[in-house]
Amino acid sequence: MQIDVFTLFPEWFGWFESQRHVANALAAGHELRYCSYRDHTPLSAGQVDDTPFGGGAGMVLRVDVVDAALQGFYGRDSREVRAERRIVALTASGRILDDGLVDELAAEPALTLLCGRYEGFDERIVEHLATDAVSIGRYVLAGGELAAMVVMDTVVRKLPGALGHEESAREESFSAALEGAPEYPHYTRPAEYRGWRVPEVLLSGHHERIREWRREQSRRRGQSG
Ligand SMILES: C[S@@+](CC[C@H](N)C(=O)[O-])C[C@H]1O[C@@H](n2cnc3c(N)ncnc32)[C@H](O)[C@@H]1O
Repeated sequence: MQIDVFTLFPEWFGWFESQRHVANALAAGHELRYCSYRDHTPLSAGQVDDTPFGGGAGMVLRVDVVDAALQGFYGRDSREVRAERRIVALTASGRILDDGLVDELAAEPALTLLCGRYEGFDERIVEHLATDAVSIGRYVLAGGELAAMVVMDTVVRKLPGALGHEESAREESFSAALEGAPEYPHYTRPAEYRGWRVPEVLLSGHHERIREWRREQSRRRGQSG
């Protein structure tokens, strides 16, 4: 898979790439690329934003700047790019990211993520340049970079080769294997600590009972959530 991130801060993603599962995915042939809006802006002095029509506080990321960045990076008209790959604008008001959407995005061969800043995008970016608007939750971040990392983190860990254990990505919270419910609780050594004991069934070595107990815990968590 190829993921391209459009941002004002490409250098922030160096830390992200050093994470084990991301490094594994890169080593397995998946690709992450970055484009700075400023490198392609048609405006002078690296300008990328402007005051909002109708007045109000803050600055808005310009549509011509994002269009120029897409055209400059891909070397063709942004309409052609939009027809070929999903272009996700990260916005607080977009479709909420959940495991189903992550599965959908992880099945794509290529993705483009647009990070907003300031007061956000000129709406024509969302309407005419992007194919999707995605939110990581009903709160407001200062910029789209952390949201892009959340999308990438969740998508990358679904890619073959990213996790040491393919099984860990199959049966986890909200997955089809757990019928969309949260995952069951985990415990490790010591079996007792300050009087807090691990559930006996997990120490029993009885695989069928353990499987049943885990399913039941997962179901209960789903009902109380
Ligand atoms: C300060 S926010 C703009 C908030 C906007 N004025 C509003 O009220 O929705 C700047 C940028 O951060 C990103 N952002 C903020 N919150 C987000 C969220 N919950 N999910 C995804 N992106 C978000 C978007 O790219 C947005 O354009």
